[in-house]
Amino acid sequence: MRKKIVAGNWKMHKNAEQTEDLLNELIAKIPTDTETQVIVAPTFVNLASAVAHLEFTNINVAAQNMHQAEAGAYTGEISADMLQNVGVNTVILGHSERRAIFNETDALIASKVDTALEHDMTVIFCFGEELKDRQSANHFNVVENQLKDGLFHTKESDWGNIVLAYEPVWAIGTGETASPEQAQEMHEFIREIVRKNYGKEVAEEVSILYGGSVKPENAKEIFSKADVDGGLIGGAALKADDFAAIVNAI
Ligand code: G3P
Repeated sequence: MRKKIVAGNWKMHKNAEQTEDLLNELIAKIPTDTETQVIVAPTFVNLASAVAHLEFTNINVAAQNMHQAEAGAYTGEISADMLQNVGVNTVILGHSERRAIFNETDALIASKVDTALEHDMTVIFCFGEELKDRQSANHFNVVENQLKDGLFHTKESDWGNIVLAYEPVWAIGTGETASPEQAQEMHEFIREIVRKNYGKEVAEEVSILYGGSVKPENAKEIFSKADVDGGLIGGAALKADDFAAIVNAI
């Protein structure tokens, strides 16, 4: 049975005090009996305190990025070992903001994926087309190439540690959510590509999350789709009531 996952990507929000406040609210509002895997991804400086704060809860912690090297002269970067050393074993890689703002290429993301998998970390692999791609009906090609160039060098045995997060760039932070039908169409396509490259079992087991303006008002319908296994949430993750409502929408 595929895992249902709702992950909150906090991006560059919440200082130490605000992080603690939000975590306390989430602990109070997220049901302890949910079968949905709940993940929060604060900024690097708050990961260790978040792991400690959430130790006895059903809320897991992920990093928003990491460097591919084990160590070295990479000013400002964080390694897999540093993340695991503070109890973080899940990392978001390939987010569209890393690709667009920080010029992360498919090849660079692929090397980060390799390092994370070598450390037995869980990778939330992000990908998705831009508006121009969809407007030119090239979105399926773009998505397939991002998967092939960033992820499909991995082995079948790696896929127990891989979560896919389809995030159409035009829906991120815009309020322009993909329709449930658009999400299902692309998720179905993604699952078929995984099947062609890794076989039926991997394709059926991999969780494919949707990200891009998921809100309490639209989460239930999007999550009701057969190939949508949860969401990667941005803005709504910063409000405890909204994030808890989205978790409960699955
Ligand atoms: O990684 C999730 C994020 O990109 C989605 O952002 O604000 O559209 O939910 P948002």
